[in-house]
Amino acid sequence: MFNYKLNYAVKGHTSSDLIVLGAFQKPAAGKAKTASLDAHWDKEVKAAFEFVKNSKGFTGGAGESFGFIGENGESYLAVGLGEKAKFDFEALRKKAAGLAGELNKKYKAVTIDLSTFVVKSKVEESLEAFVEGYGMATYAFDRHLTKKKEIKITTLTLDLKEAKSKAKNADKVLANTIKVVESVNFARDLVNEPPNILNSETYAKEVAKDAKNLKGVKVKILGKKELQKEKMGMFLAVNAGSAFEPQLVHLTYTPAKANSKTKHIALVGKGLTFDTGGYSLKPGGSMMNMKFDMAGSATVYAAFRAAVMLGAPVKISCFLGMTDNAVNSLATMPDSIVRARNGKTVEILNTDAEGRLVLGDVLDYAGDQKPDVIIDAATLTGACLVALGHEVCGLMGNDQKLADALLKSAGHKNERMWQLPIFDEYREDMKSPIADLKNIGGKSFGGTAKAAAFLENFIQEGISWAHLDIAGIGDGQGHLPYCPKHGASGLVVRSLVDYMINAK
Ligand code: BES
Ligand code: ZN
Ligand code: ZN
Repeated sequence: MFNYKLNYAVKGHTSSDLIVLGAFQKPAAGKAKTASLDAHWDKEVKAAFEFVKNSKGFTGGAGESFGFIGENGESYLAVGLGEKAKFDFEALRKKAAGLAGELNKKYKAVTIDLSTFVVKSKVEESLEAFVEGYGMATYAFDRHLTKKKEIKITTLTLDLKEAKSKAKNADKVLANTIKVVESVNFARDLVNEPPNILNSETYAKEVAKDAKNLKGVKVKILGKKELQKEKMGMFLAVNAGSAFEPQLVHLTYTPAKANSKTKHIALVGKGLTFDTGGYSLKPGGSMMNMKFDMAGSATVYAAFRAAVMLGAPVKISCFLGMTDNAVNSLATMPDSIVRARNGKTVEILNTDAEGRLVLGDVLDYAGDQKPDVIIDAATLTGACLVALGHEVCGLMGNDQKLADALLKSAGHKNERMWQLPIFDEYREDMKSPIADLKNIGGKSFGGTAKAAAFLENFIQEGISWAHLDIAGIGDGQGHLPYCPKHGASGLVVRSLVDYMINAK
């Protein structure tokens, strides 16, 4: 990574190997479109820009750019932002991400004239969006490459023409955004790590090690013996064929100013370090990439970690259910009936519907802490991809207010989230004639919401609950320039952080 520097009240530009300027396109009815520079610009730079722009045919359109040398001998890059009225935070994130991809390998020191990239006069939010886009795009999973991805940049300077009094929170916004981006990238690293390295035991250790650096956080890890004591029959059934111990990582954050009225949010994550399907074995093609089946847990842990570092005003408990779903002679066979922690019996008809078994027991365990809210995240169903596509997080739950709050946070961060209903018919379909529940529906249709209907059985009375199915959005967001083309997306972390730091 590189260092960020933020400068206020900059009259010209901070010297760097390259100075980047945003230029909007002026709509010109009937006339040719033309690029415009804001008035605060350096006269000489402006003159050089005007002189060169015409010969380059630069109109400030999104996607256009050109480099020039100022009279001062410095190198500039002018990038088109399109029309000012249409330029929003997501466009800025994408633009910043594009710049990272282009500049990181070429320059050691880059200055961004951030004031020329401001969306709707909102300086601090623009700073946040820029750093999100740039920082998320700088991520590369190259730890297993002998030859690492080339990165030259060491300093990214962000110049503001505004005085510090006009952007009072900018330093804080920058520091906080860096923490969020680092957490997103931390989640990506966990998800991308292959299953021969990241198993339930190494995963739990990694999280515990990271959590040591978090203020106000306690960590407890439950292993096989403890889960047996807790009577987590569903979780243990998924782990039965594994060479590794199941791990339930339980983290608690209590803010310094907590009192009896402080809201308590619980996060629960599916942490399947690999999902073979078990005896209901996945075919080879579908099994590929099932290392990412722990993305739910990585997502909630990353959000937890960031919210703690940002000093969220709420109490947060975080529960990560870790195991793989493997096959050996001890692995759970389809037709098995097990007893969940909350006493309900479950007929396991398909061992590949294992996430809900792990989550069910962990949700019940989380409920014992009497949180006001439980939010779980899981790569739970392939059906979520069928219903909503790769780009969208499925949202379900039992409390419309909570769902609305999450949709709002997702909107802030431009992360696609869409609610699905839980109808009584789905609940009916999850009942077994010979046990209280079965782990798959009678028909494969509506699988995402039926999985939620199953989970609902493990939410204790009076708790608001939301379930996020990230099977689609968890990886492969190649259409977003701030997500890697392949591998973990790290999406949904920012929505959860936004929700938690604004929760009251
Ligand atoms: N981990 C998978 C869900 C999944 C599938 C995520 C594809 C991303 C891409 C989950 O454990 C699973 O296998 N679910 C089954 C449920 C079915 C057996 C009811 C599925 O979706 O096929
Ligand atoms: Zn599965
Ligand atoms: Zn799974």
